[in-house]
Amino acid sequence: MEHVPVLLEETIRLLAPQRGGVFVDCTVGLGGHAEALLSANADVRIVGIDRDPEALERTRVRLARFGERLQLIEGDFGDLAELLEAVGLHSIAGLLADVGVSSLQLESAGRGFSFRREGPLDMRMGRSGPTAEEIVNRYSEAALQKIFAEFGEERRARRLARAVVEERKKRKLRTTGELRELILRVKRRRPGQREGRIDPATRVFQALRIEVNRELEQLSELVDQAVRLLDQDGRLVVISYHSLEDRIVKNALRRLAVGKVDEVTGRPHAQTRLIEVLTRKPVRPGEREVSLNPRARSARLRAARRL
Ligand SMILES: C[S@@+](CC[C@H](N)C(=O)[O-])C[C@H]1O[C@@H](n2cnc3c(N)ncnc32)[C@H](O)[C@@H]1O
Repeated sequence: MEHVPVLLEETIRLLAPQRGGVFVDCTVGLGGHAEALLSANADVRIVGIDRDPEALERTRVRLARFGERLQLIEGDFGDLAELLEAVGLHSIAGLLADVGVSSLQLESAGRGFSFRREGPLDMRMGRSGPTAEEIVNRYSEAALQKIFAEFGEERRARRLARAVVEERKKRKLRTTGELRELILRVKRRRPGQREGRIDPATRVFQALRIEVNRELEQLSELVDQAVRLLDQDGRLVVISYHSLEDRIVKNALRRLAVGKVDEVTGRPHAQTRLIEVLTRKPVRPGEREVSLNPRARSARLRAARRL
């Protein structure tokens, strides 16, 4: 399975590997970006983090030729500072986060990420935490409604949550197919019929995936920790795939770029600014990239430089 790294050229340019040093790729996945960084400069070392042991194993084999220049760690990037502390790293030249699911995860039916593939309702990127099946069959109607509405921006959140609760009184929802069927029924759609540009099941599946993997919490944790670990002139690049994530990154970067504001004058204290934002607007892939790699369609990249 070929994995095409998203916004590769822009990512490498903004991380500036010509400076050398230790870079952290905290979503190393199948190692596409990491490979390009390692190839850009022989003085680059990478610590690659991922919560998915299967991805790490493949990358270990695929990038074995880089030897000790690539170190792989299984863990959540929300625990970045702790994970790096454990390997004796206190400062880094750059950090990349390409958040979301990998093609490996999406395409493995057995992991339950895709409504296009029949599989168990799992959706865990790593080995721990509740599965989508546990959430769908145990959460209260109100909690499900909130998740569908907030994380999926699903307009029918209330009706869908009620339908899930009614359905599970009769039988447990266990598979992607069963959940998809229920969504289509509530929305009165036929299989294959779209809702605008997306499948009617997209939003509920996205919402469950975000809840299962605590994706937004992880991202909020990450940006603050990453910025504090960067050396002077160190770079941070974050690629995200939906507006909720992008908003978290944008707000965190803005806050760190302004620094502390004086309570009396309302003016920021220049010396408390930690970063300069390098992307006034998020960088989006061009038409050519999207046509070659449809997964890139919703990508937004933001970058910053440590002052
Ligand atoms: C889009 S893929 C990264 C692809 C990678 N840049 C490449 O070129 O192959 C995202 C990866 O991030 C991992 N991931 C997502 N959230 C994570 C988290 N909170 N902690 C650690 N890894 C995470 C996923 O398991 C997945 O392998």
